[in-house]
Parts: sequence; C-alpha cells; structure tokens
Amino acid sequence: MADAPSFPHQHLLGIQGLSPLEISALLDLAEEEIAVSRQIEKKKQTLRGRTQINLFFEASTRTQSSFELAGKRLGADVMNMAVAVSSVKKGETLIDTAMTLNAMRPDILVVRHHSAGAVELLAQKVECSVINAGDGAHEHPTQALLDALTIRRHKGRLQGLKVAICGDIRHSRVARSNIILLQAMGAQIRLIAPSTLLPTAIDRFGVDIFNDMRQGLVGVDVVMMLRLQRERMSAAYVPSIREYFRYYGLDVEKLALAAPDALVMHPGPMNRGVEIDPLVADGPQSVIREQVEMGVAVRMAVLEALAQHLPNR
Ligand code: CP
Repeated sequence: MADAPSFPHQHLLGIQGLSPLEISALLDLAEEEIAVSRQIEKKKQTLRGRTQINLFFEASTRTQSSFELAGKRLGADVMNMAVAVSSVKKGETLIDTAMTLNAMRPDILVVRHHSAGAVELLAQKVECSVINAGDGAHEHPTQALLDALTIRRHKGRLQGLKVAICGDIRHSRVARSNIILLQAMGAQIRLIAPSTLLPTAIDRFGVDIFNDMRQGLVGVDVVMMLRLQRERMSAAYVPSIREYFRYYGLDVEKLALAAPDALVMHPGPMNRGVEIDPLVADGPQSVIREQVEMGVAVRMAVLEALAQHLPNR
C-alpha cells in the first residue's frame, strides 16, 4: 500500500483551505482504507502509541463512533471524553477543558461543538492536531469528504455532476462543507429549500437556488437530503411538518424527476416522514448506509494524513 500523501496541514478545521489536489489525495487514501476495513485483520500501525481524544459537546452517533473505530484501526489509544459527566457541567469553559486535556499530551483531538468557530479557537490553544467533527452551522469537513467518496465510487467522478442539496440549508454545516468541496471539484450545485431555510447571504454561494423542489430535482445525478434541524431553530421556519413533507420531503414521485440512476443521500440522523419517505430512504437508489461505511474510511484517511504533523516527536 502507498504511503499517506503529503498533507501540509496540522489540523483539519474545514474543507475551506483544502485544494482540489488535497481533497483528491484524501479520497484516494480513503479508497485504500475501505480495503483495510473490509478484511478480517483491520489493523494498521500508523498511530501506534498515539493518543486520540474525542471531545463531543453535541450528540453524535455516526461521527463519534466512526472516529473511534478509525483511530483504533490505525493503532491509536482512543478515549471518548464523556462531556455530559465532565466538569463542563460545572461551568468549565471550552478552553479550560481543552487546556486540561492538552496537559495530558494527546496527539489528536477530535472536537464537535455547538458554536461555529469554537474548534478553530481551540486549535489555537493546544499543541496537538485538531479535527473539526462539526462546529455549529459552520463546517463538518469529514462528512463532506465521505459524501464525495460515496459519490465518486458510484459515478466515477465529481466534475460536472448535478447535485441537489435539499432541505434545512440555513442550519446545516453539512451543506456548507459540501458546497465548498463539490464546487472545488467542479460539480454543479442546486440548493432546494423554502426561503426561510436558506442562509441570508445565499447569493454569494454561486449556486442555483430553487424554492420548488419538483423544478430543482429535474435531471440531477445526486439528491442530498438534509435533516430539519429543529434544535437549532429559534422560530417557526416551516408552517407544519405535514406541509413540509408534502413540498420538501423526498418521496418516490419527486425522486422520479431526477436522473434515473440518481443517488439518494442523507448524512443522518434521518427524520423519516419529515424530509424523506422511508420507501426512498430504504429504496434501490439509496446509498445512505454506504455513506456510513465511507465515514470510517475517510476518517482513517484524515488521521493518517495528519499523522505527518503529530507532536511529541
Ligand atoms: N452525520 C452526522 O454528523 O451524524 P452524527 O450526528 O450521528 O455524528
């Protein structure tokens, strides 16, 4: 197997700042990690002796567990910090928590936080490599990488594909990271949402906007659905869930407007019957479970790429 490609970054804080070549190199490395994860002996030695701490201030199933598996498959000692029973609950700040963990000499911190920019701030205070596992509505870089890997494996390319990102774009870090990555790789992006669920500065994104889902889906190669993030909403952005599903939920009838071989994607967790019909989520065009498998491979690739810059050498 080839060595990890040269990767000139100490941290992965966002897709912003990665070049198309660096993105392609991470995806190529992730292809190798898929093979490792599919064999009986799933262990590599790249992070042997290294310590990885997963620090999640927000709930997670996929990202946290896949970072844990990825670190372990590369030989690291992985600790999941139980924030719910930590001193954060006693009023300790993010930075104090980070500095406390930093004093224990970890090599990698994987951080999810509800505030945009919090992970970057933390990265400035510690000596180890920091990976953004999602910060507020800002970025979720490994999600965009795993989405790109899933698409590339099915379509053979990203360049020139028509990708529809649908739903609660306003509150979505997944949408933001995907827009940056897919644009960098030459895909054409359509955002489909009611005006209330689009970001205010949407005209700066350089994408096509559709308020009518039926119009937006015509001929697309990929339909990426997003969860309605009710926990981030401070006001009523949709009149009712029933109406939202009627106009913006992906069902069999709306999916028929996309290309016949269009992929159906969702980063999870899914709200069945809110943004996606179970018949579509579990249907033949869905690659949602495959996205989860790609998540482990992409996170292994990111950890391997960052291994070149780990401290304590
Ligand atoms: N897609 C995603 O970030 O899922 P989790 O919230 O379960 O990690």
